Amino acid sequence: MMLLHRVGRVCHVLVLVLCLSAAEDFDWTTNNHDSFYYGTFPNGFSWGAGGSAYQTEGAWDKDGKGLSIWDVFTHKRGKIFLNDTGDSSCEGYYKIKDDISLMKELHLNHYRFSISWPRIMPTGIRSDHVNEKGVKYYDALIDGMLENNITPIVTLYHWDLPQVLQDKYGGWQNISMVNYFNDFANLCFERFGERVKYWITFNNPWSVAVEGYETGEHAPGLKLRGTGAYRAAHHIIKAHAKVWHTYDSQWRSKQRGMVGISLSGDWGEPVDITNQKDIEAAERYVQFYIGWFATPIFHGDYPQVMKDFIGRKSAQQGLGTSRLPTFSSQEKSYIKGTGDFLGVGHFTTRYITQKNFPSNQGSTYFTDRDIVELVDPRWPDPGSEWLYSVPWGFRRLLNFIKTQYGNPMIFITENGVSEKMMCTELCDDWRIQYLKDYINEMLKAIRDGVNVKGYTAWSLLDKFEWDEGYSERFGLYYVDFRNKNKPRYPKASVQFYKRIIRSNGFPSQREVENWKRTSTETCSSSNQLLAAARRKSKENNDHAQMPKVWPVHEV
Ligand code: NOJ
Repeated sequence: MMLLHRVGRVCHVLVLVLCLSAAEDFDWTTNNHDSFYYGTFPNGFSWGAGGSAYQTEGAWDKDGKGLSIWDVFTHKRGKIFLNDTGDSSCEGYYKIKDDISLMKELHLNHYRFSISWPRIMPTGIRSDHVNEKGVKYYDALIDGMLENNITPIVTLYHWDLPQVLQDKYGGWQNISMVNYFNDFANLCFERFGERVKYWITFNNPWSVAVEGYETGEHAPGLKLRGTGAYRAAHHIIKAHAKVWHTYDSQWRSKQRGMVGISLSGDWGEPVDITNQKDIEAAERYVQFYIGWFATPIFHGDYPQVMKDFIGRKSAQQGLGTSRLPTFSSQEKSYIKGTGDFLGVGHFTTRYITQKNFPSNQGSTYFTDRDIVELVDPRWPDPGSEWLYSVPWGFRRLLNFIKTQYGNPMIFITENGVSEKMMCTELCDDWRIQYLKDYINEMLKAIRDGVNVKGYTAWSLLDKFEWDEGYSERFGLYYVDFRNKNKPRYPKASVQFYKRIIRSNGFPSQREVENWKRTSTETCSSSNQLLAAARRKSKENNDHAQMPKVWPVHEV
């Protein structure tokens, strides 16, 4: 009896252990491409759209704003497609009312925007100067949204580091950014925290690290191959953790908000899901992407596979230590658990297979991974070169996050698709298709048990698309950049997205088909409106004079 009891207990423990470890395993070997799922989202699901300061505000040198690394980078010849800049962009700085009325038209529950650090702290250093005019602008934006029942989701860092901090310290290569960023965040909590309850510390730090400090395609344009990205990421993770702790200890009890980070994650699918090497390669791709930041935040340290691969490659190069920096044990426990929620930006997927890069090829972030990325030529690719529409990858990524990080609360902070510049077509049926299918895969993921609380369509407006200038349009609303008034026009996807929001999902096939039809019907009249306005603005000579090159700063 006693023995049976013990055996029973051992079995019980065994089952428990098996359950626990099973809960951590993502199933790489089955990829269900289920058919479209008609159903609705949980009550209270939050629907939104987004944008960011440098991409939309314009007013780059107005009302006491300091320079950011993007102001300086875009004014250098040859960095941006057609040498365009964000100097005026959508003129969002002057169009709070107009843009809030677009949010209302869409029936958004939330809108995601970012605060430009140099707009409110021109040198980036709090003790130097706080620019009250900049603070006022964000006050007005937040107040306007709240008056219209739109919840602000605010990003503190969407890539526009104050130039002074880059010049003086080397930007994110330098550990001193941690304290400067914390001071900036603290000021934002102090001034806006009564009204803002959702804070995102960093937007897509992968891009900041890799494109800003490794490939140099983005500001500040440094090409520190093999080390720059890892070092920048290390400081960003520490800065994120510090800001989370600041909020937790100084503001949370009064303001009752949440602080998270927004990570960008493309999905990596093994070329052959029955081949263990492909599975390992795909997992490496994902770990080097989202895992690089999420694993420290949820588990306290970098993914083991990054430590192993970068460590081995560094040794092969004859380096005494790994190019991937290390966290002390104190730092690990300080960083672990610093996400009240996880923001996820997701656009596309790649097939992945293994490839060994010999160490003499020159070590970079990319060769450290030993993988090859492939795409299926049948995947739709309507706009940005890198953006193939692969909806099922979204569900896979969300399930991966659930299993890896203990089913955290997730906000989708970016998802959407672009079209090419010359396309002045407001009948964006490819965007309708993309949104319909991606949102549906998110619904399936929620049905799988993933804890997604909100969705942010990227983006509300067409805007400055970083090194691609204005050549790639992500907006639900078309912006006529050639007209100095920067008028906005709804694309067909506005009508479609609005209906998803109204119904909190996809009620039935008949209705959804109907939405598609009616959305595309209305857009031809919008097309005519746009064409007429174009003609008129030509006659009135309203054309925006966009300076192509305007050197403000020699670096
Ligand atoms: C991610 C970035 O955060 C965002 O600013 C950009 O517009 C999108 N990717 C699309 O490229």
